[in-house]
Amino acid sequence: MSYDLIVIGSGPGGYVCAIRAAQLGLKTAIVEKRKTYGGTCLNIGCIPSKALLHASEMFEEVAHGLGKLGVSVGKPKLDLPAMMKHKDDTVGANVQGVAFLLKKNKVDGFIGTGSIPAAGKVEVTAEDGAKQVLETKNIVIATGSDVAQLPGVTIDEQVVVSSTGALELPKVPGKLIVVGAGVIGLELGSVWRRLGAEVTVVEFLDRILPGLDLETCKQFQRLLEKQGVKFQLGAKVSSVENTGKGAKVTIEPAAGGAASTLDADVVLVAIGRRPYTQGLGLEALGVALERGQIVIDSHFATNVPGVYAIGDVVRGPMLAHKAEDEGIAIAEILAGQHGHVNYEVIPGVVYTSPEIACVGATEEDLKARGVAYKAGKFPFTANGRARAANHTDGFVKVLADATTDRVLGVHILGHGAGEMIAEAAVLMEFGGSSEDLARTCHAHPTMSEAVKEAALAVEKRAIHI
Ligand code: FAD
Ligand code: NAI
Repeated sequence: MSYDLIVIGSGPGGYVCAIRAAQLGLKTAIVEKRKTYGGTCLNIGCIPSKALLHASEMFEEVAHGLGKLGVSVGKPKLDLPAMMKHKDDTVGANVQGVAFLLKKNKVDGFIGTGSIPAAGKVEVTAEDGAKQVLETKNIVIATGSDVAQLPGVTIDEQVVVSSTGALELPKVPGKLIVVGAGVIGLELGSVWRRLGAEVTVVEFLDRILPGLDLETCKQFQRLLEKQGVKFQLGAKVSSVENTGKGAKVTIEPAAGGAASTLDADVVLVAIGRRPYTQGLGLEALGVALERGQIVIDSHFATNVPGVYAIGDVVRGPMLAHKAEDEGIAIAEILAGQHGHVNYEVIPGVVYTSPEIACVGATEEDLKARGVAYKAGKFPFTANGRARAANHTDGFVKVLADATTDRVLGVHILGHGAGEMIAEAAVLMEFGGSSEDLARTCHAHPTMSEAVKEAALAVEKRAIHI
């Protein structure tokens, strides 16, 4: 069998690429080494983590939130196996959905590890060792990423866990130490804190969520502390001794100084992810890599003709929707169209409570680039719907160019921020101004009125503050 396109890896980058290519008439196959399609995101990432985040948020809402609304239901009882079943069922439905979509679009699926013996050829090695070689005009590598290891620390997924182990702990740990105050650490730390764990987050830098808007993160950290999460910032974990029943964690100030130790039942290592290229045969093929990432040009082409790469395995944010958009763009390019991704407008969401959502530049970015900007801010305490729902934490911040008024960045800390950010992304995609946002009619009473008010605040004319 000869194909127009073979995609290696069926995460959000790979499966979306394969479906779009098939829609455009390319004879397409996909190779996946896992037993199920959907990649990190659907199997061990976005989807299971959001199932647990939602369920644990409901648990906390019943424990501490409903009483204030006059709903008295008594102390909630945790049924962890049922919560885990909800997560597993959610994953199952999603990965089966992807298998259905691939079939519906007539994409041939091969379960096995893909490697590239030469341009135009993909070898698939099944679990039992059986090999077959497929011929193709083009190859898209979408093999994603894997957990970054802490030097000298062995992840056994029982006591010392990565995100994968943290998604399936058999019981709530008494004490959980999270290494890294990034997205995984704060999301999964929140899950287990809500379910009863004492959570301490140890972060190398002097701030949480590096790269996100600093003011937003500072307020967010205060909210997490109010919820009971402890932080040790400017500190690095230098060793983790697995005692079998738990762990002794040695922590040193990042700037040097005396070490201290903390006991933990479980340690979550969440210090980032690394591009995954193992077993593809890229070295022999001569594909250029830089810091582990596959090097591509602006059209996703590697230095080897006919071989392309997208998603976590290439530069840019490691986000599912970024991988998806790249998958669509390369499929369209291979079909002779003009696929394109606007890297200036990729939203990011931290699915904690409250959520953080952002798109575009932070104030720190704009200052570093010397761009003159105006900022408008509006707090949810002044929003009627937020008050009615008892979700008054946080604010919306709109950053607009001082001269042109074009919106350059929007940052939201608040309940439902991940949904609200979409209108900012659409606005920015169309090159909209804060005036455009301020003059767009927003339904009342909604949390998203705070977005409009923040846009009004850019010219100091917010109504409700
Ligand atoms: P992946 O999803 O990693 O898929 C790559 C696939 O390739 C895998 O299935 C792998 O088995 C397969 N593969 C690798 N090598 C081979 C080979 N040689 N042959 C065959 N198959 C191979 N992002 C968000 O945007 N939102 C979130 O809420 C979010 N939550 C996350 C939560 C967690 C706990 C984690 C770990 C990640 C989360 N992410 C989230 C990040 C997101 O999962 C990734 O950005 C996304 O999955 C990248 O997609 P991808 O297609 O590049 O690769
Ligand atoms: P991350 O890059 O977000 O955060 C890692 C943190 O660990 C950083 O703050 C870093 O300074 C810190 N760190 C590094 N080494 C350390 C050390 N030795 N000691 C203490 N701290 C240390 O990585 P994370 O959270 O593992 O997530 C990986 C990727 O997955 C991210 O790129 C993210 O985009 C993606 N993801 C996205 C989600 C979302 O969109 N909601 C959810 C989960 C993951």
